[in-house]
Amino acid sequence: MKLEIEKVVSEIEQFVITNTSELEAFRIRFLGSKGLVKDLYGLLKSVPNEEKKEAGQQVNELRAKAEEKYALLKEQLESADQSRDGADLSRPGEPSTIGARHPLSLVRSEIIEIFNRIGYTVSEGPEIEDDWHNFSALNFPPEHPARDMQDTFFIEKGEQEMALRTHTSSVQVRVMENAEPPIRTISPGRVYRNEAISARAHCFFHQVEGLYIDKDVSFADLKQTLLYFAKEMFGEKAKIRMRPSYFPFTEPSAEVDVSCSICNAEGCNVCKHTGWLEILGCGMVDPNVLEACGIDSKIYSGFAFGMGIERITQLKYRVNDLRLYSENDIRFLKQFTSGI
Ligand code: DAH
Repeated sequence: MKLEIEKVVSEIEQFVITNTSELEAFRIRFLGSKGLVKDLYGLLKSVPNEEKKEAGQQVNELRAKAEEKYALLKEQLESADQSRDGADLSRPGEPSTIGARHPLSLVRSEIIEIFNRIGYTVSEGPEIEDDWHNFSALNFPPEHPARDMQDTFFIEKGEQEMALRTHTSSVQVRVMENAEPPIRTISPGRVYRNEAISARAHCFFHQVEGLYIDKDVSFADLKQTLLYFAKEMFGEKAKIRMRPSYFPFTEPSAEVDVSCSICNAEGCNVCKHTGWLEILGCGMVDPNVLEACGIDSKIYSGFAFGMGIERITQLKYRVNDLRLYSENDIRFLKQFTSGI
């Protein structure tokens, strides 16, 4: 009898559980109506009378031990449940929010698509640029006041003075230096200018440069290409007008306005009651630029244009504060979806 009791005691001591069904198995094995404790009480009958008292006490202690252990195991299981924050595992999952593409990136893609359709490739250049690509090759003579048109961030890279490019026109130089005409390419990218940040100016923004070089390219080709772009971007009713302007790298140069799609060119706050909105600068590539880039200006001619992506986005989505584009406010960003 003693031996039987000791066996059951050690089994109780070693019993471990990890879930409620194992807890129940413990209860059934030791404390159930057909459990081991009950069996031991049954065995008491066959114990000789003089030993009965002691054996009875031992079985009583055993039962108390089993009950104690049962209570302990139950408590452990319940507190483990709580440490999982009492999570309701049947609760439906939280929907994960899907990000939206940045409006500038949507408009950049749309501009690329529009020009892809008429055979323009995409080319890129570095944002840290040397004087040659940002200025000299583009016909800005040294010390020429035209360099002040763009407030430049200069930086030092080793011995050489470099600049954060002030426009993507630097990429047209790189393309012309490396490719044979015919060239038809656009260059989207980030540019930097030393300007105080406000609703209308920022120290960095984005441009798309366009370049077409071939034999017999004329101003009429430029005009028609930009009209095509305006209609694709702003709708079939869009019109353009060109105003004479000056850029060192084009001759003649023009600024291009598109008819205001907000008021149907009737006049509103956005177009300052003129019916027109300025969208880009352009012109015929100056022969000096062609020559600087190794292209024979007696054989080839071409046009170039440059537009601000923020400006086009502003007109498309009526966002009139440039700072919104770089503040990363999710309430602003989540409003834009593709398929505009
Ligand atoms: N680079 C000019 C700017 O940043 C924009 C520009 C004007 C680009 C005329 C051109 C162009 O290619 O022909 O203001």
